[in-house]
Amino acid sequence: MSELQTNKDNSFLKLKLPSSPGPIGIFDSGYGGLTILEKIRQRLPDYDYLYLGDNARTPYGTRSFEIVYKYTLECVVRLFELGAHLVILACNTASAKALRTIQQNDLPKIDPRRRVLGIIRPTVEIVDRLTHNGHVGLLATPGTVQSNSYGLEIQKLYGNAITLSSEACPMWVPLIENFEHNSPGADYFFRKNIHHLLQTDPEIDTVILGCTHYTLLQDKIKSILSPEINIVSQGEIVASSLDDYLNRHPEIDALCTKNASCRFLTTESVEKFSASATIFLNEPVLAEHIDID
Ligand code: DGL
Repeated sequence: MSELQTNKDNSFLKLKLPSSPGPIGIFDSGYGGLTILEKIRQRLPDYDYLYLGDNARTPYGTRSFEIVYKYTLECVVRLFELGAHLVILACNTASAKALRTIQQNDLPKIDPRRRVLGIIRPTVEIVDRLTHNGHVGLLATPGTVQSNSYGLEIQKLYGNAITLSSEACPMWVPLIENFEHNSPGADYFFRKNIHHLLQTDPEIDTVILGCTHYTLLQDKIKSILSPEINIVSQGEIVASSLDDYLNRHPEIDALCTKNASCRFLTTESVEKFSASATIFLNEPVLAEHIDID
């Protein structure tokens, strides 16, 4: 993507961002990032968190590079405006399609002291500890699969020692976002994609759940896969990697406030988000509405 496409009107120059420390921003297209937030809060309970779910524009997984980048950048900037200095893209699709451009082209113009981190690299970093035969499967959105971000990271870290087979699952996020994933018809789609993945490479011994929504399907996926196949779910991996990052970067840690609070923002209906997030997190959630565009 060209420089021109990333910030046509130099609107970043007009941004007035708070310089005082603020919460850690956690972003997802919808509810999936809550599975990451939950594990981060368990590991790092003292920090303040600001969760933003772009539920009005979900799913991202079937959208183009340009749109995912545009939506993600808008949400990141809004989290910055609300005080975050560090934002985690708790969404594989956004990490795959928008992270690099935001880090390389936009952050230097917005504010070089602010940081945006993704969740694909930390996931790939632990895969070699789980696979015994080097045959790894990926279940993810069409956007994440088409980007080949997992394949490229695996190639960078392990060369040809790990073979990745990927399966795009276009129906899974819509089923979860609409709370239809436990309905009788939903299993057809889960079984279809998992069986297709295993046909592609029958030797797979490790499967990455490369979409933060899929953690909610973990038991279902486990029951469809054979018991000896490892399942990689991202929550704890991302939490541990963030812990490590904050220890290695005390200058960023100093920009993160620590009052153990958590606010939830949604671009969709507050009532719907609050009710759904309460079920996801198993604790009462009172969300606030936010307009992005
Ligand atoms: N949770 C997002 C991910 O990890 C879902 C993407 C979507 O909105 O389709 O990819």
